[in-house]
Amino acid sequence: MLSGKTVLIGITGGIAAYKICELIRMFKRANANVKVICTPNAMNFVTKLTLQNLSQNEVGIEEFEIPDFKPEHISYADGADIMVIAPATANTISKIANGICDNLLTSVVCAFHKPVIIAPAMNCNMWQNQAVQENLKKLAAYGYTILEPENGFLACGYEGQGRLCALEKIFDAAVKKLSQQKPLEWEKIIITAGGTIEDIDPVRYISNYSSGKMGIALADTAYSLGADVHLITTVSTQKPYVVEKVKSAREMQNALDETFQNADCVIMAAAVADYRVKQQSEQKIKKTSDEEITLTLVKNPDILKHLCEIKTHQTVVGFCAESENLIENAKEKISQKGCDYLIANDISRKDIGFSSDYNEVSILKKDGSIKKLEKADKYTIARQIFEEIYG
Ligand code: PMT
Repeated sequence: MLSGKTVLIGITGGIAAYKICELIRMFKRANANVKVICTPNAMNFVTKLTLQNLSQNEVGIEEFEIPDFKPEHISYADGADIMVIAPATANTISKIANGICDNLLTSVVCAFHKPVIIAPAMNCNMWQNQAVQENLKKLAAYGYTILEPENGFLACGYEGQGRLCALEKIFDAAVKKLSQQKPLEWEKIIITAGGTIEDIDPVRYISNYSSGKMGIALADTAYSLGADVHLITTVSTQKPYVVEKVKSAREMQNALDETFQNADCVIMAAAVADYRVKQQSEQKIKKTSDEEITLTLVKNPDILKHLCEIKTHQTVVGFCAESENLIENAKEKISQKGCDYLIANDISRKDIGFSSDYNEVSILKKDGSIKKLEKADKYTIARQIFEEIYG
């Protein structure tokens, strides 16, 4: 039921921590990948070895424990589809509600931008405490799902509301949240489209035959798959996602400079002019008696290459427009630019590529592998490209 999904379980220091061993088994039986992180206090109630054996994954407790290129709390946050905090103590609830990050678990929740389910369990008087209730209201308003504790006999000897809710309720809430997710939900994707325009004078320009159709098909598809889309385009279009109109290569570069750091993925489908005129004329260039005139061109920035040089966590995808030796040139281009994927298309063909509603592409990966996609409409090609990138 949950294959391909990663459930991150956060255990805090309450007696109900022992029940979470069974919750881990429930998620494992549903084929989820389960990762567990605990507050140091939780270790008074369960052992690391038990949780490791049940989850079949390393258990995180202290920050800075596992060497990784990313800080640990970010790796945990990025690597899961949902987080379940059970049992959640009054202490941890109050820290999360106030943005406090003083251990691995609270730091991970703060960096987590997907659904979080919180199942509190505590003494009934603590549950009724006004500060705790205010903090729970805050968390609910922030979008966290709170599964209220049940009434009954409590481990501390009291009778009242405070017992961890049924494990089935936590499991069902997680399954429901995961089934509502779209495959690209929470992904911030920037897509460029259209041909850049390099002015010569107020009436003339250098450009190319890009219609923007490929880039727009990618942007529409990403949006329909749930992504947070930012389209940077030279072609005007109205969409339910963010559309930023630009003209020249340098304007496109500026738009990317502003947005790249916060993106998860960038796809450069735009046909960017390699050169622009050195001196743009402010006035219309007049016809003279000369038979020839000379325009000096200077190199534009290589936007794709620059993004690959500065990228941290982003997936960077380029396109490659060739009129001959498609695969040979694309292989050279992917290593020269340094992108994760390069989508090669033959722009000498009239039935695909520039301005056509169709395309036929080969997807080159950084590891040297190549996948050919048969001729199809650009929306089908776009969907197949996302399947390749996101698996
Ligand atoms: O818009 P359509 O009519 O639908 O046509 C689609 C398309 C043919 C334009 C598209 O499929 C395509 O191939 N886009 C890339 C065109 C291109 O500029 O290819 P290139 O091989 O010259 O450049 C390689 C990559 O570097 C591209 O991702 C390009 O965006 C990028 N680049 C190029 C030059 C430059 N100065 N900066 C860049 O970032």
